[in-house]
Amino acid sequence: MKKTIRDFDLKDKKVIIRVDFNVPIKDSIIDDDNRIKQSLETINYAIENGAKVILLSHLGRVKEESDKEKNTLEPVALRLSELLDKEIIFVEETRGEILEEEINNLKSGEVLLVENTRFEDLNGKLESSNDLELGKYWASLGDIFINDAFGTCHRAHASNVGIASNLPSGIGFLVEKEVKALEGAIKDPKRPLTVILGGAKVKDKIGVIENLVEIADYILIGGGMAYTFLSACDINIGKSLKDEENIEFCKTMLKKYPDKIILPIDTINAKEIKENVETTECFIKDMKDDDIGLDIGHSTVKLFKEYLLDSKTVIWNGTLGYSEIEEFSTGTKEICEVLKNMDAIKIIGGGDTASAIINFGYKDYMTHISTGGGASLEFLEGKQLPGIKIISEK
Ligand code: 3PG
Repeated sequence: MKKTIRDFDLKDKKVIIRVDFNVPIKDSIIDDDNRIKQSLETINYAIENGAKVILLSHLGRVKEESDKEKNTLEPVALRLSELLDKEIIFVEETRGEILEEEINNLKSGEVLLVENTRFEDLNGKLESSNDLELGKYWASLGDIFINDAFGTCHRAHASNVGIASNLPSGIGFLVEKEVKALEGAIKDPKRPLTVILGGAKVKDKIGVIENLVEIADYILIGGGMAYTFLSACDINIGKSLKDEENIEFCKTMLKKYPDKIILPIDTINAKEIKENVETTECFIKDMKDDDIGLDIGHSTVKLFKEYLLDSKTVIWNGTLGYSEIEEFSTGTKEICEVLKNMDAIKIIGGGDTASAIINFGYKDYMTHISTGGGASLEFLEGKQLPGIKIISEK
């Protein structure tokens, strides 16, 4: 079992907490602060227990000097300060004398946020390649390391794996909660376990399908990837998205698990992908050559509902249609509505699915919505995440 923040005496210690503050920011305005809010429990615990709190996070990708301006963590520092109702010492550096001095002046209960760790990627990808010296340097700034950045746990970077290799380490409350929810759903699920899989490409979900098809009782497939599966059944899918390279994979899966993999029976189509476009609904077999399938139809919602209502655990990863556009969001919303009224464990993989469910107003009806996109996907693929693996055992 991994050590957690509870296993350390934090009093007067310099505690480095890796958080995932990789939030969408436009013109210095944060669009969605969920990840910041989800990190508050660990930060507050550290403050209350007398730690000198040093926060590290990445934001976006930093490839050239000009990426720095839009990827500064300054807006996050301001939002965090509002949420904690406390001053945050924001240091616009990722190393050097100013940072070291500010850390040495920290008093117990104070919070310091270091500038975006990926600014170090400008000097030869030091952060993203887990440069040993950088990991050692950041570790030298603290006494204890807590990893609470679940969204980044599938990365082996200097600010998570690098630091953890050089300091006593534990996980924070968010990582603990995420692991418990995701692991519980796949290791010892209450059955029937139904997995809803959507998203655009089969390619992105191969690992999850291969892992979960062995564990789940049913896999309901929607989203853009459903059309590749349908094409693998020699059905005309018009101009819908087709992941040509993975047709064979779909065929193999359908042949091996004919009663487990459930495909849509009807579809909502358009001739173009844009707002306010005219849509048609038809059974899959009636799709026209110029139709682009962009959502599941009402009969599919009914079909999926039959499987779902019976389920005791549901794992959902990937929206069921092109849900950024209102016209193609119905399937996703209707399945949210089905889940809302269900008494079951409902686990939502992060990324686009999480954003859609939160935006459509169904957040409070889910058991757990992961803060990790790629991380939750890799977890569901059954992989060990390097950011967690490196943490000290109890
Ligand atoms: C995420 O948003 O999925 C995490 O913060 C990881 O970000 P990355 O894909 O840029 O590594």
